[in-house]
Amino acid sequence: MNKSYPIPQHILQDLVEVEKELVKAATAAGDVLTEAFLSTLKAGGKRLRPALILMSGMVGEYDLATLMPAAVASELIHMASLIHDDVLDDAVTRRGVPAVNAVWGERVALAAGDFLFAKAFEIMSHLEIKVVEIMVKAAIDLSLGEFDQMVTAHVTDQSIEDYLQKARRKTAALFAACCEVGSYLSGAPNAEVEALAQYGENLGIAFQIYDDVLDIVGGKETGKAVGVDIRDGTVTVPMLYALEALGDSCELAAVISCKEPTDKDVESAIKAINECGAISRTKETARSYVDKAVGSLKILSKPDTVAVFKGIAEFVVDRYN
Ligand code: IPE
Ligand code: IPE
Ligand code: MG
Ligand code: MG
Repeated sequence: MNKSYPIPQHILQDLVEVEKELVKAATAAGDVLTEAFLSTLKAGGKRLRPALILMSGMVGEYDLATLMPAAVASELIHMASLIHDDVLDDAVTRRGVPAVNAVWGERVALAAGDFLFAKAFEIMSHLEIKVVEIMVKAAIDLSLGEFDQMVTAHVTDQSIEDYLQKARRKTAALFAACCEVGSYLSGAPNAEVEALAQYGENLGIAFQIYDDVLDIVGGKETGKAVGVDIRDGTVTVPMLYALEALGDSCELAAVISCKEPTDKDVESAIKAINECGAISRTKETARSYVDKAVGSLKILSKPDTVAVFKGIAEFVVDRYN
């Protein structure tokens, strides 16, 4: 685990319990699938989604046993989506180790992801239907967002709104669901549950925008290769801003449109994005979503939880700086 965001000590301890349940869930698969899943699990990861569920559980009456199934399920859904995402993105590295598709092949990666999705819902099957509905909706959104991204790859003529719709679905929906479910399960008042869902959605958008920055500016801490989005033609905010600054007929547009860019193409695209001011503009956009997220916290009644949610929001747009 790699949790450099601020979080109360007792939540950290409870995340160790969540971790044990994750290992149990993984071990249930047997043989190759377990090996593949454990390699992803043990390699690291921030465990942000279960952390958000537990943190949101502090808004009302905190009870680990009540929150545990949803917390475990949230990370299983997330890991399933990462393993499938690496197939879609043809990624070779995840969490600093070779991606499942790179070691065991795409077919094992698809089966591993399917198993984890199913396991997540098995674990949640004893929960109240409302909780299951919220998580199901997030998983559906996630898959639609990933699909949308796939069909719009290499299309440079996209707006920020097009981007935001995909980010909302593929990333922010699960963040929002975690915050909603955690607070709901803790018996928080409706208005606070809604406020936290809003917080989670805007936090998720900021998170994805900053992840897109990291794809360009890199850093060993990300545990991922640099320039994957450019290679795949995934049009992100820094790319949209760079296209705006450099014009439709720039070399960057040609690289993004190209189905098989060379390493040199990707390098020159990274250079162009870095040099035109798109990165700082993108960071400002990410920050504006953090501000929106933090704005939703006003109505929460416990000041200590507000401080932690603010700290997580700051971390999201300042990772590995
Ligand atoms: C990666 O999520 C996928 C995105 C939504 C950008 P994380 O950055 O939370 O991945 P881990 O779990 O820490 O590895
Ligand atoms: C998020 O998008 C993917 C998921 C929601 C699984 P990315 O494709 O940017 O995530 P990374 O960069 O591979 O972690
Ligand atoms: Mg990816
Ligand atoms: Mg990314």
